[in-house]
Amino acid sequence: MPTVELIRDALAKVIDPEIRRPITEIGMVRSVDVEGDLAVVGIDLTTQGCPMRERITTDVDAAARSVAGVADVRIELGVMSEEQRLELRSKLRGGKPEPVIQFTQPGNMTRIYAIASGKGGVGKSTVTANLAAAMAQDGLKVGVLDADIFGFSIPGMLGVQGQPTRIDDMLLPPIAHDVKAVSIGMFVPEGQPVVWRGPMLHRAIEQFLADVFWGDLDVLLLDLPPGTGDIAISVAQLLPHAEILVVTTPQSAAAGVAERAGAIATQTSQSVVGVVENMAWLEQADGSRLEVFGSGGGQTVADRLTRVLGTDVPLLGQIPLDITAREAGDAGTPVVISDPESPAAEAIREVARRLTTRQRGLAGRSLGVTPVKR
Ligand SMILES: Nc1ncnc2c1ncn2[C@@H]1O[C@H](COP(=O)(O)OP(=O)(O)OP(=O)(O)O)[C@@H](O)[C@H]1O
Ligand SMILES: [Mg+2]
Repeated sequence: MPTVELIRDALAKVIDPEIRRPITEIGMVRSVDVEGDLAVVGIDLTTQGCPMRERITTDVDAAARSVAGVADVRIELGVMSEEQRLELRSKLRGGKPEPVIQFTQPGNMTRIYAIASGKGGVGKSTVTANLAAAMAQDGLKVGVLDADIFGFSIPGMLGVQGQPTRIDDMLLPPIAHDVKAVSIGMFVPEGQPVVWRGPMLHRAIEQFLADVFWGDLDVLLLDLPPGTGDIAISVAQLLPHAEILVVTTPQSAAAGVAERAGAIATQTSQSVVGVVENMAWLEQADGSRLEVFGSGGGQTVADRLTRVLGTDVPLLGQIPLDITAREAGDAGTPVVISDPESPAAEAIREVARRLTTRQRGLAGRSLGVTPVKR
């Protein structure tokens, strides 16, 4: 009489051709039964359309038949559940769990700032790239995640060339000006547009957070696309404790939309760390200020957000219009590095220091009691 144990032992010699591990080890053998001289083997394939279906069936059949007393074999094919696949992936990672977003783990001390604006073109990316470079100059470990999937500009502004190095499914971010940076722009062929819907965008941001080896960061900056669309919501879901830094110009129309972008924080329960007014004025040769876009927008947004959110939202700085800032961005070296004495560089450095020296709040931080959903 063949036994279940003998048949299992025989099946342990069947190697999955793709995963290259015994099928008994990777959870593919669902059941083994003996009915007289008939062996009934339940096999769960990893996916419905498993290309190795035939091969596995043949090998299982042969293995079961090799057991003395087995005259016939019936194979009942099934497919692994999502949960089984998850377990398999974790097993293949050497017992390590699925990649997780390190920034939401209990005890993670990275400060996260999401740079947002209601309107496009106000200087979010310029501010992000320069804050990152300024903080790195101050000795902090800084990462930048370019969350502007459609309109990525971080690789250009930081002068990052090349792709992240891949180790299995882990990505090592390129480093420029001591800043680790990841952008969808590093993955798409030049000139090719990214046309994705919400779920893909969410997945991309999630992968940038979980699969990128950021290491131990003091600060992570996220360059958001303009407005309050899918990506801003994804960031709020994935990083509930990210604080929002609102960028506006002095113009009242821009200030109005900036305020809406900040007020979203009430719905996502994120906090707004402050407001930066960019393109505040243009310094003239005689030292006077030409207020190209009017004045007062930054303070107005800060005051209104303070009222709406019920917490102090300060105006953290005013960055003047500065040709060197634009040129530096185009050249891939942030102005705080290329022209540190320029008025724009000085203003940005000041904002960077205000952000890194402030007390960090616990609001929205994971205390380790909520399961992190992936
Ligand atoms: N303070 C400044 N002085 C001069 N030029 C600036 C300044 N800030 C930004 N710019 C220039 O303005 C343009 C828009 O800036 P940037 O791309 O940073 O804005 P953005 O808000 O990220 O835009 P988008 O909404 O398209 O992502 C760029 O060409 C940039 O170099
Ligand atoms: Mg931008």
